[in-house]
Amino acid sequence: MRFLLLTGLWFGASAWAQSSAVSSYLATESVIAKAGLLANIGPSGSKASGAVSGVVVAAPSTNPDYIFTWTRDSALVFKAIIDSFARGEDATLRTSIDQYVAAQKIQQQVSNPSGTVSSGGLGEPKFNVDLSAFTGAWGRPQRDGPALRATALISYGNSLISASNTSYVLANIWPLVKLDLDYVAANWNQTGFDLWEEVNSSSFFTTAVQHRALRQGAAFATALGQTASVAGYTTQAANVLCFLQSYWNPSQGYITANTGGGRSGKDANTALASIHTFDPTAGCDAATFQPCSDKALSSLKVYVDSFRSIYTVNSAVASPGAVATGRYPEDSYFGGNPWYLATMAVAEQLYDALIVWKAQGSLNVTSTSLAFFQQFSSAVTVGTYASTTATFTTLTTAIANQADGFVAIVQEFTPSTGSLSEQYSRSNGAQLSANDLTWSYASILTAVTARNGLAGDNWGAAGLVVPSSCSTSGTGSSSGGGSSGTVAVTFKVTATTTFGENIYLTGSDDALEDWSPTSTLILSAATYPVWSITVNLPASTALQYKYIRIFNGVTTWESDPNNAFTTVASGTQTLTDTWR
Ligand code: NOJ
Ligand code: NOJ
Repeated sequence: MRFLLLTGLWFGASAWAQSSAVSSYLATESVIAKAGLLANIGPSGSKASGAVSGVVVAAPSTNPDYIFTWTRDSALVFKAIIDSFARGEDATLRTSIDQYVAAQKIQQQVSNPSGTVSSGGLGEPKFNVDLSAFTGAWGRPQRDGPALRATALISYGNSLISASNTSYVLANIWPLVKLDLDYVAANWNQTGFDLWEEVNSSSFFTTAVQHRALRQGAAFATALGQTASVAGYTTQAANVLCFLQSYWNPSQGYITANTGGGRSGKDANTALASIHTFDPTAGCDAATFQPCSDKALSSLKVYVDSFRSIYTVNSAVASPGAVATGRYPEDSYFGGNPWYLATMAVAEQLYDALIVWKAQGSLNVTSTSLAFFQQFSSAVTVGTYASTTATFTTLTTAIANQADGFVAIVQEFTPSTGSLSEQYSRSNGAQLSANDLTWSYASILTAVTARNGLAGDNWGAAGLVVPSSCSTSGTGSSSGGGSSGTVAVTFKVTATTTFGENIYLTGSDDALEDWSPTSTLILSAATYPVWSITVNLPASTALQYKYIRIFNGVTTWESDPNNAFTTVASGTQTLTDTWR
């Protein structure tokens, strides 16, 4: 009893000390972060030399060379700026925002290696800072960019509509949004490179932000009287929501980041998707993987735990202790280190969850989220806990403390200048890779907002129902470019597996990973024992494939001969197999 009491007091005191240290760090660091972010934006940012008006330089670094503008980074950075402007925090930001809009209007029209504005060019990931095309080899296309840009622009548009500026929005913002959303509606079912520019497949972050963009795009079009666009966006949003479910790995309790890539699939991709699709009106809805949903919380724990023993700086700290986290455990870029924006995303997801639990006055523990909650109280069981219960208080206090713990890690490895690079060393926390990464600074600002209890926007996630059958066809076969000549083929195989074992697909085409046994496509077990995956393949083509199973690092191929079939000329196709 006395021991428990002392432990409680000690815990309370150390949590309080951490909370006030984190508050004071963030008070200072958020000022540095805002200045650091603005310094990287043209034309007048002090570290943005060469960047034209409204262009966000990813980082003023020549090694690695980040003096380019990425559609993704720029949209995430401007979303943070726009939200701050819309909350009335700083009216002077309007100038930069209008410059960003003008720059994107130009950038959308620049022909580039992914195509022209009407043939897939919107999927180009990065441009030179004078807005000319970057023509070197790169992982392209990346299909999250247009969706993220649409979301940023819609947020700005909505704030202007609230200020009775609808005609301005219709003339200056809607045309850009429409181009991006038409691209998303036409191409969401096509593969592309993930947000880390490495894996060419479908990716959870990309699909999740596409879903959000289409939903809020339908509402935005309605508000502007653009009714012709509404039905298409709504129909495709439902299809995307359906596809989004397929990333969930039910046997291991996490969201698999990519359909390809041959990795564990544990990835900051999924926490980033949760925070950038947060909608407090949706509660803890799992269909949209809200930050407090059981699936997103379970996934967050699996992701965080994957870094405990691999980074020296974590000194194998056990759960629920906070640790440094990176993009994904297998990462080797610059040696594969923790990233500030990844560690901050963990904190932000937890702060978002706390906002919702407090607003709804209760918290729900399901069998899916039980392991997450048991980190904080081993005695907790499945059930709903009202805010008047001791369990609610115990859990939310411990979770707030864990969230602050992740910020405390970032604080520990922030140099005295307050500047933030992309990575910090896995062995000693020293800064690595690009210096002054604009996205790192934005990640501080959005986490501070969530820690202060300011909720994200209502983008229409509340009450969505996942359609019972999924269609995987986009609106256009060629209007967005890059999609003509491919058909969506769904592979379904009935296979009995043991816990921890997964089924993969490999075969005789690039999109089937060219028979690679290591870089293969993982199937979804959402309808176990039927495993499935949908892959875009060249139309009217004879192909061969096999399923493989991987368990404890051991790969087992299906017996010979290869499965063979010919893809249809257009539309979609389903193959139904039994493991042999
Ligand atoms: C550069 C990309 O920006 C980065 O995400 C990736 O890890 C490396 N290329 C891989 O070489
Ligand atoms: C590499 C990251 O993997 C990618 O997400 C980012 O867009 C670029 N660096 C630029 O910051």
